[in-house]
Amino acid sequence: MKNIIDLNNKTILVTGASDGIGKQTSKLVSELGGRVILVGRNEEKLSNTLSELVGEGHAAYAFDLKQLDRIDLFIADIVKAHGALDGLVHCAGESQVRPLKMCSPDFMKDIFDINYFAFVELVRAYSKKKNNNGGSIVVMSSVGSKSGDKGKIAYTSSKAAVDGAVRTLAKELAEKNIRVNSVVAGMIKTGIYDRYIEKNGEEAMKNNVLSRQYLGVGEVDDVSNAIVYLLSNAAKFITGTGMVVDGGRLS
Ligand SMILES: NC(=O)c1ccc[n+]([C@@H]2O[C@H](COP(=O)([O-])OP(=O)(O)OC[C@H]3O[C@@H](n4cnc5c(N)ncnc54)[C@H](OP(=O)(O)O)[C@@H]3O)[C@@H](O)[C@H]2O)c1
Repeated sequence: MKNIIDLNNKTILVTGASDGIGKQTSKLVSELGGRVILVGRNEEKLSNTLSELVGEGHAAYAFDLKQLDRIDLFIADIVKAHGALDGLVHCAGESQVRPLKMCSPDFMKDIFDINYFAFVELVRAYSKKKNNNGGSIVVMSSVGSKSGDKGKIAYTSSKAAVDGAVRTLAKELAEKNIRVNSVVAGMIKTGIYDRYIEKNGEEAMKNNVLSRQYLGVGEVDDVSNAIVYLLSNAAKFITGTGMVVDGGRLS
């Protein structure tokens, strides 16, 4: 049987691999034959992910991606140890709800550091000649990049910045045979969902999210399936865009 999403002999770096969408993506990449380099902060959770991968040659690195000025060296060390990369998935991210009056520049920058600046710095390092074999870059965006949400100026604007960067990076990196896309996700059942329910309750979820997201809450594999498609050669003509995976929320 033909498998159009074949990641055999591909080395894919996944950030946010210790939890949620990044964890599921790492597992799926390994099931499709890829070698996965896991990145997150929590060593125990990274080891858990590592133990759930199939195949061989995977590795895990505990690293805080807010250390922006260390990312370049971090990627160089990974390439030295594992060879040039074929793909990068940036799932590490943070979402916090704060009204405008509490959004100091430091708070805004903190959210942008992981959601946006770390992404751009990872791409800058990935795209250096010796660090890649061409390949595909996928970053997590959100429906929040296209529709506002009270109390989420830092998050929604960081994701809008990500989508803006994707369009430009795709143009700039096409000549290096590197594609760049985002996945624009609706509400997915991960820690982010659990924390929302804990803070706002089931009723708020129903009224504010599920009234618009009429296929219900998404599962992590709804997103990881889209990510591995974009990573694969089956998506070789797709770059500079955002794939919407949102249960109909933006329709
Ligand atoms: N879940 C949703 O409903 C939803 C919807 C739209 C978009 N998204 C986006 O999808 C991405 C993944 O979300 P998720 O729901 O899977 O989140 P999650 O379950 O909370 O996982 C977040 C991941 O990011 C890592 N991370 C956070 N800060 C980091 C840092 N400074 N350095 C390194 N790693 C860091 C965490 O690692 P440690 O725990 O090891 O620190 C964890 O592995 C995020 O960008 C999020 O904005 C999610």
